[in-house]
Amino acid sequence: MRVGQHGSGPGVRTPDGSSVEMYELAEAHGEDELIDKAIGPQSSILELGCGTGRITRPLLARGHRVVAVDESAEMIARITETETVQATIGELRLDRRFDVVLMMSYLINVADEAERLRLLRTCAHHVRPGGSVVIQQQLPAQLAWPVVLESEHSRMEISEVEHLPGNQVAATLTHTRGGRSWSQRVLTQNLTEEQLAGHLTDAGLKLVRYLTPDTSWVLATTL
Ligand SMILES: C[S@@+](CC[C@H](N)C(=O)[O-])C[C@H]1O[C@@H](n2cnc3c(N)ncnc32)[C@H](O)[C@@H]1O
Repeated sequence: MRVGQHGSGPGVRTPDGSSVEMYELAEAHGEDELIDKAIGPQSSILELGCGTGRITRPLLARGHRVVAVDESAEMIARITETETVQATIGELRLDRRFDVVLMMSYLINVADEAERLRLLRTCAHHVRPGGSVVIQQQLPAQLAWPVVLESEHSRMEISEVEHLPGNQVAATLTHTRGGRSWSQRVLTQNLTEEQLAGHLTDAGLKLVRYLTPDTSWVLATTL
């Protein structure tokens, strides 16, 4: 298990506490459209932390070519439509460059700064010169207080929120779907714009623009 992260509930969980079954049931919420608009048509994409392929499949359906990476064999076993690689992101070194490297799901907000830099260096290593690195980051407001978010098919409760020194937040996320519940304790590092820009530079990348007004989606490129 990753430091500060763990989960409970039916089925297998990954080292970051994500539930394989829960992600298998989850659908896209417009992420593929947002990514598609930010990149060129028929791009080659390296997707880091792909899970069960929730966003991989819609990106393939939009005509992109995706290589999907996850450290969890159980997660990527669910992806049969494209090439998968089982690897820890920080250690991944493929002998290929891609038009786009995608790292969503707040992986950049990992609490360990050295690990954050390793993740970004992997992004930089695999993107072609002038290509796009698309990152989804956690915003401070997203885990700031206990809240219940309900949609047609699912319910997500944020509870046990702890504001820790150094702008870190721990919280418990409980997803309920079809009468089953999965809990995941997460530890995240909120990043200021200066910290984000500094980390990108340290990895050999630079911020191009935010893809959403709330700054949660980031477009970066090579230096
Ligand atoms: C919260 S899930 C999200 C999956 C997918 N991006 C989605 O949105 O449906 C995060 C995934 O990233 C993977 N992951 C987290 N840290 C990783 C790391 N350092 N190396 C490889 N995979 C990682 C986990 O195994 C898990 O499948």
